[in-house]
Amino acid sequence: MSYIASPSRYTNMQYRRCGKSGIKLPAVSLGLWHNFGHVDVLENSRAILRLAFDSGITHFDLANNYGPPPGSAEENFGKLLHEDFRPYRDELIISTKAGYTMWDGPYGDWGSKKYLVSSLDQSLKRMQLDYVDIFYHHRPDPETPLEETMRTLDLIVRQGKALYVGLSNYKAEEAAKAFAILKELGTPCLIHQPKYSMFERWIEGGLLDLLGNEGVGCIPFSPLAQGLLTDKYLKGIPEDSRVAKPHGFLQENQLTQETLQRIQDLNTLAGERGQTLAQMALAWILKDERITSVLIGVSKTQQLTDCLKALDNIIFSKEELSRIEQILK
Ligand SMILES: NC(=O)c1ccc[n+]([C@@H]2O[C@H](COP(=O)([O-])OP(=O)(O)OC[C@H]3O[C@@H](n4cnc5c(N)ncnc54)[C@H](OP(=O)(O)O)[C@@H]3O)[C@@H](O)[C@H]2O)c1
Repeated sequence: MSYIASPSRYTNMQYRRCGKSGIKLPAVSLGLWHNFGHVDVLENSRAILRLAFDSGITHFDLANNYGPPPGSAEENFGKLLHEDFRPYRDELIISTKAGYTMWDGPYGDWGSKKYLVSSLDQSLKRMQLDYVDIFYHHRPDPETPLEETMRTLDLIVRQGKALYVGLSNYKAEEAAKAFAILKELGTPCLIHQPKYSMFERWIEGGLLDLLGNEGVGCIPFSPLAQGLLTDKYLKGIPEDSRVAKPHGFLQENQLTQETLQRIQDLNTLAGERGQTLAQMALAWILKDERITSVLIGVSKTQQLTDCLKALDNIIFSKEELSRIEQILK
């Protein structure tokens, strides 16, 4: 069935300004790391994308290596984009990245100009796009001079292959240096993509302050700790879960008794707030105004519907916040 986007798609979503830029992003964005590769069912991926766009999600996040196999998420996204979303390209913010291993030899990894330029050219081909909205350096490279990597991001924007640039997984100190170089070059960093959730709070130790002060947006990835911050593992390991899948990045050994107890306690508190744990975990991140968007993944449309309801209540009482701190201690 051909797709026509819902006319009410912009009614319920909240949009937040990305740092001090001209761009607004939906409070919830969708990532295609899992569930969009050639190992997955294409019609399920299509249903997720359609529901997302119909719900006001305008931002879709990819990377060269998403799949498996690497590259296949971009290929599938390109196919679905052209079958379903072609008329809506100007309503979409599409991002991709390079920085992790993508092909053999010394030019398929890290942060050289050679790698980033070739990788983005490949990504554009796979997605059948002329440009992406955001191109990220996926992780800092301890060997390539930061100037070379940042100059390449600037070049890519000047070539019209990306509209904006972002950094991912950079610690505060290296991010600050990169922001300064990019500013000097005339291509300010739009956004930073760090891992952040109730279970992973390193950005509270300086990065978030830096982003707030510099006017750079923040889009935390794995805000549900890959599914741990939901009720799904409270009664064992479901067959269709990320832990159970051979290509899933979440490992069974992360489900310790201590973690399960925390999940249980958080789940109880979420229930008292009238939320699911997934909703409370997302709301807890969005309570900070420096956060532009939470970057979730979903394996089913029902999960997306559940997550979107987080936006109904992102306010926490002092007592709730201190109970969360107690649980996470
Ligand atoms: N920059 C980087 O280095 C980096 C690294 C990782 C991810 N990312 C980006 O961040 C995106 C999100 O990462 P993520 O997939 O780890 O995020 P996540 O939202 O923390 O975890 C997603 C998983 O949580 C489960 N889930 C989601 N909603 C649920 C709900 N309402 N109820 C129950 N379970 C639910 C699903 O697990 P099941 O599959 O088990 O159903 C889903 O696959 C990625 O797609 C990617 O774009 C970036």
